[in-house]
Amino acid sequence: MSGLTVVNGLGRFPRTRPRRLRGAAWSRNLVAETHLSVSDLIWPVFVLDGEGQRETVPSMPGVERMSIDLLVDAVGEASNLGVKALALFPKVDPSLKTSDGREATKADNLMCRAIRALKAAHPDVGLFCDVALDPYNSDGHDGIVRDGIILNDETVEVLVKQSLVQAAAGADVIGPSDMMDGRIGAIRDALDQAGYTHVQIMAYAAKYASAYYGPFRDAIGSDGALKGDKKTYQMDARNTDEALREVAMDLDEGADSVMVKPGMPYLDIVQRVRETFAVPTLVYQVSGEYAMIKAAAGNGWLDNDSAVLESLMAFKRAGANAIFTYAAVEAARLLRRE
Ligand code: PBG
Repeated sequence: MSGLTVVNGLGRFPRTRPRRLRGAAWSRNLVAETHLSVSDLIWPVFVLDGEGQRETVPSMPGVERMSIDLLVDAVGEASNLGVKALALFPKVDPSLKTSDGREATKADNLMCRAIRALKAAHPDVGLFCDVALDPYNSDGHDGIVRDGIILNDETVEVLVKQSLVQAAAGADVIGPSDMMDGRIGAIRDALDQAGYTHVQIMAYAAKYASAYYGPFRDAIGSDGALKGDKKTYQMDARNTDEALREVAMDLDEGADSVMVKPGMPYLDIVQRVRETFAVPTLVYQVSGEYAMIKAAAGNGWLDNDSAVLESLMAFKRAGANAIFTYAAVEAARLLRRE
């Protein structure tokens, strides 16, 4: 490569000019290395009990919790825009929260009713169903707590039951987000024995103990309940090799795809996981990442539309196959316009 050296007899001009390729949109598009498409997006939604109910989430501008009837309509609109995958999270009434999270295992709980209604109305929309106890646990933790300890194996037994009721309701993908050890294998065995061999498991394999989950905990109402932090089960932000070990274990236990979470602060992990394992690697643009963009845009400090698309493109560039994002529907609209 020539720098600014003598290359043309005059010794003043670069022969190689990367700007030539950037000179026009058609050319930039032709040489673009990464593409973002609506089929890359998974829309996380919050479901409420009742009918005709809609609540805003103050820390997540543009996000609403909806009762099942309204959610069914909203998903219809999203589907028309090409958003064909959803991640479902319930906001459980506080009166149903117990220290053993037993509501999670009921076949007619809010989550299962939402799954049935959505699959009936929109059979072509894939449903990622969260498995963890935090929406149902009076302690706000993903697992069962005894004497301040999050119990692993006892929790896995409940997660298995939770997975089975969700699979029976019509879940396409079980998404254990709890970070207990051994749960992927236990859930896979139970699904297979019950005849749900076709139900996928997407393991939240590299899920970090993160400050960026704050707005989500508002959204599902687990924030007030949470005692302490999640550092004894979610990963330490200082670690990379540990993420590879977690992914290797979950794949070995039968995960079909793996998740890295949060997204933007962990792009190095996304890249390393995809390069190391070459398996479907998903990434979660979590609530705090979304809130940061919306807060800055709301103040006029960032251009919302280009920041949203750039943030999603960065995940693809790092190697993600698909992205959980609260901005899925707005991104679908923006991609249409482009
Ligand atoms: C918990 C769960 C969390 C998220 C998804 N599932 C929060 C947590 O671990 O406390 C966070 C998602 C987000 O912040 O958008 N099972």
